[in-house]
Amino acid sequence: MEATKQHIRALLKEKNAILLAHNYVLPEVQDVADLCGDSLELSIKAAATDAEVIVFCGVHFMAETASILSPEKTVLLPVKEAGCPMADMVTPEALAARKAELPGVPVVTYVNSSAAVKAISDVCCTSANVVKVVASLKEKEVLMTPDRNLAQYAASQTDKTVHLWEGYCPFHNTLTAKTALAVKAKHPDAVFMAHPECPPEVLEVADVVTSTSGMLTYARQSPATTFIVGTEVGILYPLSRQNPEKTFIPASLEMTCADMKRIRLNDIVTCLETLSGEVKVPEEVRVPALSAVEKMIAMK
Ligand code: 13P
Ligand code: SF4
Repeated sequence: MEATKQHIRALLKEKNAILLAHNYVLPEVQDVADLCGDSLELSIKAAATDAEVIVFCGVHFMAETASILSPEKTVLLPVKEAGCPMADMVTPEALAARKAELPGVPVVTYVNSSAAVKAISDVCCTSANVVKVVASLKEKEVLMTPDRNLAQYAASQTDKTVHLWEGYCPFHNTLTAKTALAVKAKHPDAVFMAHPECPPEVLEVADVVTSTSGMLTYARQSPATTFIVGTEVGILYPLSRQNPEKTFIPASLEMTCADMKRIRLNDIVTCLETLSGEVKVPEEVRVPALSAVEKMIAMK
């Protein structure tokens, strides 16, 4: 494995490429990346890098966001089939029909969505900045897509009336308050960190609600030594690596996203050697989508 990692690093240099990885991907992929992060950090990095090629180890919508922000760069997704089931729960056609029923209501779209959906949205958000984005809007009512749990969280943290979309992450949505409380009962001193993609009843019993990188920051800075982790299990690797003296307990092992585990080191080698797996958003979609993504990035 070490030889493969060295080969990837050499290829990245040769191709003037940068490797970005989401906090959920396989440990060996995180180890070889230039930057690991949550969706917001990865978008910011994709916009700022001067590399010619971006290898995105995550899922399709993340590579699309990089292409939206950096049209002059070659954006590669090493396994083209890596998608996000939640992103597929909203189509541009269905969103256009809902918008027609809610004239004047701005649309806030989670980055976990296709470029075509972003293109007909007013502003994007991630789990790291959702409250800031929603609160910044002058309108009292907003429509949020596709994650109904994230939308209910935003509603609970702002004075907005939020129209929901019936989308959800099939993994975060499986966690129940009953399961979380049972793990808490076994570890009474543990801090329970939950991702806002979890259902509202889970967020109600959480000590901290934050994005994946928010969890990494919180765990590093907290004096607590034991944490229950309510998000996709891939985050346990960077949590443990950054805090070897602390204990991290998954709230549920059912929170395992197969799409986030698809990319392996050999896929990265092939993709770099052949510059295959390009994700390119067409200009007529990219330009309106960029407006929604840039508004979000300007707010951070
Ligand atoms: P964040 O890393 O932004 O918290 O996103 C979680 C997620 O589910 C990405 O698909
Ligand atoms: Fe999509 Fe959920 Fe997987 Fe994230 S964890 S990529 S939201 S299915």
